[in-house]
Amino acid sequence: MFKVLLILSFFALPHSYAEDKKSSEDQIKNGKKLFQRKACGGCHKIGGDQVSPIGPDLKDVSKRRDPKWLREWIKDPRVAQAANDPIYVELFKKFPTKMPYLKLSESDVEDIIKYIESESNKKKGK
Ligand code: HEC
Repeated sequence: MFKVLLILSFFALPHSYAEDKKSSEDQIKNGKKLFQRKACGGCHKIGGDQVSPIGPDLKDVSKRRDPKWLREWIKDPRVAQAANDPIYVELFKKFPTKMPYLKLSESDVEDIIKYIESESNKKKGK
């Protein structure tokens, strides 16, 4: 019996690994859902002609910011705000609203960044 279980778990392993590793298409889809559900889009746009009324345009944000800074910011902007982080101080001069803490998991943050990158690439040249 034990042997059978061992063999079964061996076959189950690669499968669950594949499930854990979301395809980047799924990440983008989930990121888009989160972008809408967490109201990012109410304050930010990603490229296009319209001017963002409340927060900065997020087009190519992952190219102009350090990846670690970007992840920490989206995860919990209160940390940089409280520390008077220089990037935050600059942004706040132009956008005098404090971005709220939106209770995202680390994988949510990754998915949102993937979505922002995919939208940015669609709007190349703008
Ligand atoms: C209530 C408005 C609001 C919401 C909702 C909001 N933000 Fe922001 N965001 C801002 C403002 C304002 C700034 C500029 C910094 C500041 O003043 O806090 C900012 C800054 C940023 C930056 C840094 C931009 C740069 O140029 O470096 C990123 C990235 C970002 N937001 C992503 C997001 C994501 C992703 C979400 C959704 C999970 C979100 N924001 C939701 C208002 C908002």
